[in-house]
Amino acid sequence: MDPIQHFEANKENYLNELLDLLRIPSVSADSKFKGDVRKAAEFVKVKLEAAGATAELVETPGHPIIYAEKIVDPALPTVLVYGHYDVQPADPYELWDSPPFEPVIKNERIYARGACDDKGQMYMHIKAFESLMQTDSLSCNAKFMIEGEEEVGSSHLEDFVKNNKEKLKADVILISDTSIISNDTPSITVGLRGLSYLEVEVTGPNRDLHSGVYGGAVANPINVLCEMINSLQDENGKITIPGFYDKVEELSRDQRDEMAKAPFDLEEYKKDLKIDDVKGEAGFSTIERTGIRPSLDVNGIWGGYIGEGAKTVLPSKAHAKISMRLVPHQVSDEITELFDKHFKAIAPKSVKVKVTPHHGGEPAVISTESPAYQAASKAFEKAWGKTPIPTREGGSIPIVALFQQELELDPILMGFGLDSDAIHSPNESYGLFNFYKGIETICHFYQFFSELER
Ligand code: BES
Ligand code: ZN
Repeated sequence: MDPIQHFEANKENYLNELLDLLRIPSVSADSKFKGDVRKAAEFVKVKLEAAGATAELVETPGHPIIYAEKIVDPALPTVLVYGHYDVQPADPYELWDSPPFEPVIKNERIYARGACDDKGQMYMHIKAFESLMQTDSLSCNAKFMIEGEEEVGSSHLEDFVKNNKEKLKADVILISDTSIISNDTPSITVGLRGLSYLEVEVTGPNRDLHSGVYGGAVANPINVLCEMINSLQDENGKITIPGFYDKVEELSRDQRDEMAKAPFDLEEYKKDLKIDDVKGEAGFSTIERTGIRPSLDVNGIWGGYIGEGAKTVLPSKAHAKISMRLVPHQVSDEITELFDKHFKAIAPKSVKVKVTPHHGGEPAVISTESPAYQAASKAFEKAWGKTPIPTREGGSIPIVALFQQELELDPILMGFGLDSDAIHSPNESYGLFNFYKGIETICHFYQFFSELER
């Protein structure tokens, strides 16, 4: 039996196991779920062991990392798989059609928080590995590093990577945590944006005030915060923070023309989001705006009275969470610093401003010239019958740049999600087609990677 036949014969079981994993609410951001995050880690460990690897649970000051390996022969090439078992918070729960941690299959799709990002995608690797093991066809050594803090910035994985370079020695890092263009147009991700995430607090008067007694005479921190945020982008969608674009890599016309060849239907895009128009930096297409240009967004904003009915209050404080997506060669800490300086500089004297940095991550670009990329391309050709298109995506996986830097390896971002999977949103889902096709493609990757001339 070959690995594909083996997985075909066992696909129902594989799916049911994934559903069990999806029932564990491993939300890394919320300490209420700490025990569940650990349960998910243990689940991953048990499944890797059952598939034939030796696995360990590595404690960190945060959530645990699962490390596992199967060394077939030290002379063979080694594939290091990275994935994450933590998920984003499921809020707002009321917008889900079914509870986020009670997975359901509907229209050939799995609905649950983490169905795609990244439990569904990570689990494909464990099952591909199992199929290869069960059919004696594992042609590479396999190592797995599955973490529980990706959605909160991977802060402890960095130490693990830096302190375990020998253990993590490999010839390629294989990651499924990104998307393809569509099920008719497979693609391989060759670019990710970086991230700089921070929180701001604007304080006006020392206490909440009556908005009639003081309104019009004392700065309202919410009004001020809105004005300040508004001024961070100009009418052309350019970010106004001095120095923000200094290191941005400007792509050549040829590179941009090449990018534009990837199929993209703006009308479909708008229809999917039920919007009448898109918005972004002037002079760049939608694909460019998320792929090669930086952006700035408010992720949350609060202050004042938001309870039922009306309360006439001029609040003492206003807050916002702000993310900036970065492109090569911007540096996360430098951008955070520039933001901090600028935000304080534009604050009127009537308020005080506090900026608290959260996590960040560097952007990454991956070469299409590497032998590993060629093996990935062939794996797609065999499983999908089409050559995958290289694409740059707007999301961030902070650890990718770190892998490139610390382990000096080319990562392969072989994700199988779709933009319509609604990752991080209510009703996240993952297609059964993608789950199964992903397993098949991964099996082929091992084969092609082991056959490369070295
Ligand atoms: N899987 C995503 C990243 C992603 C999504 C890449 C879609 C490409 C296409 C990942 O789990 C994620 O959401 N990362 C966070 C990183 C952050 C919390 C440090 C992100 O991008 O917001
Ligand atoms: Zn993810």
